[in-house]
Amino acid sequence: MTDRVGPAQEEKGRCRVCGGAVHEFLDLGRNPLSDNFLTAENLGDEFFFRLSVGFCESCTMVQLGEVPPRERMFHDDYPYYSSGSSVMRKHFEQTAREFLETEATGDDPFIVEIGCNDGVLLKTVHDAGVRHLGFEPSGKVAEVARGKGVRVTGDFFEEATAVAVRAADGPADVIFAANTICHIPYMGSILKGVDALLGPGGVFVFEDPYLGEIVSKTSFDQIYDEHCFLFSAHSVAEMARRHGFALVDVRRLEVHGGEIRYTLARAGEREPTADVAALLAEEDERGLTDPATLKGFAAKVVEIKDTLVTLLRRLKDEGRTVVAYGATAKSATVTNFCGIGPDLVSFVCDTTPAKQDRLSPGAHIPVRPASAFSDPYPDYALLFAWNHAEEIMAKEQDFRRSGGRWILYVPKVRVV
Ligand code: SAM
Ligand code: TMP
Ligand code: ZN
Repeated sequence: MTDRVGPAQEEKGRCRVCGGAVHEFLDLGRNPLSDNFLTAENLGDEFFFRLSVGFCESCTMVQLGEVPPRERMFHDDYPYYSSGSSVMRKHFEQTAREFLETEATGDDPFIVEIGCNDGVLLKTVHDAGVRHLGFEPSGKVAEVARGKGVRVTGDFFEEATAVAVRAADGPADVIFAANTICHIPYMGSILKGVDALLGPGGVFVFEDPYLGEIVSKTSFDQIYDEHCFLFSAHSVAEMARRHGFALVDVRRLEVHGGEIRYTLARAGEREPTADVAALLAEEDERGLTDPATLKGFAAKVVEIKDTLVTLLRRLKDEGRTVVAYGATAKSATVTNFCGIGPDLVSFVCDTTPAKQDRLSPGAHIPVRPASAFSDPYPDYALLFAWNHAEEIMAKEQDFRRSGGRWILYVPKVRVV
């Protein structure tokens, strides 16, 4: 295992996109790797780092102070399987169809995905008989994609690997990434790689959690090791401009608590849509990238922590049973920042076999299969997977019928 973040080394306190000074506005303390679910053997060997977030005074990019080395986060045992949610499966099937209809229209089109995971999107492309390639360094999830017929390389996407694919396969019509670009600190290498691989007139499309939603929902749990950047239209437009691209479209998505799908094209190749100007104006109007807004967000995060911990302590004192639902990467921040351990939440249930019968990172809450939830139902369930609330509440109606109540903490702490 190499001990590096990626292709370029980072300079502390400096923006990874433009080199400007980064000012910290929130310190979430000592945190573990959010997807490192522990077995009894590796319990004593946990990696911790200081989780903090700041904004660049020059390009406004909101980013983590420190990011763990990529090989520690994305490896053979990476336990996140995108197809675990039926809503996400539908979302990516629909996205793939859209690309096939609108972008992959020439002779022998070529679609590339960065972070294709278990093939949730590229399977549809494969089934349509369209040439494609997924970059997926996490071994086991990549193997699941290959099992669906998807063509996958185990390389990390970066300039050198993109150049190699261009030489072997020719130019791409679409380079797509979901919940992956915000995970990658070496953004210069990524955009040079996109420039090398993307054909003339092609688009680079990526969707990630939106800073605007994180601030309005106070969803501080979107901040964890893998989420190096919290993008806004302003910061993405500036990042694109610095690398010869332009932000030509934005689309709001409801998935994962509110995301934006950004479309980049080479500067001058496509006319930006009116939605780009509208979102930039909206961000200006609400002062999204003003330091005062971000400091106000940080104050609300501390309020949520205090209210949630007070509620859980009271329930414990009253002898109520409390479990958690969804061993999300996000919940690593909630449990470690708030100090919520097995004393307050007896276990967390999750449908992912790779997480089950392990302990949650840092907080060491046991992870149990989904079947443990109803055996018997607890009095309260802390919904860590709040971004899948609709899907989960629809299938867990018997929990409320049994008298159980959900505890939510985004956008504020409440019992429903
Ligand atoms: N795209 C899927 C989705 O939206 O559900 C997966 C998202 S998952 C949170 C992020 C994925 O990006 C992981 O599977 C990880 O292995 C992969 N990844 C991280 N860095 C990468 C890089 N430089 N190139 C390609 N994939 C990368
Ligand atoms: P995510 O918020 O990063 O997508 O992670 C969701 C986690 O919640 C993942 O570990 C799978 C789990 N999950 C369930 O246990 N039951 C469900 O119904 C859904 C949708 C997710
Ligand atoms: Zn910057």
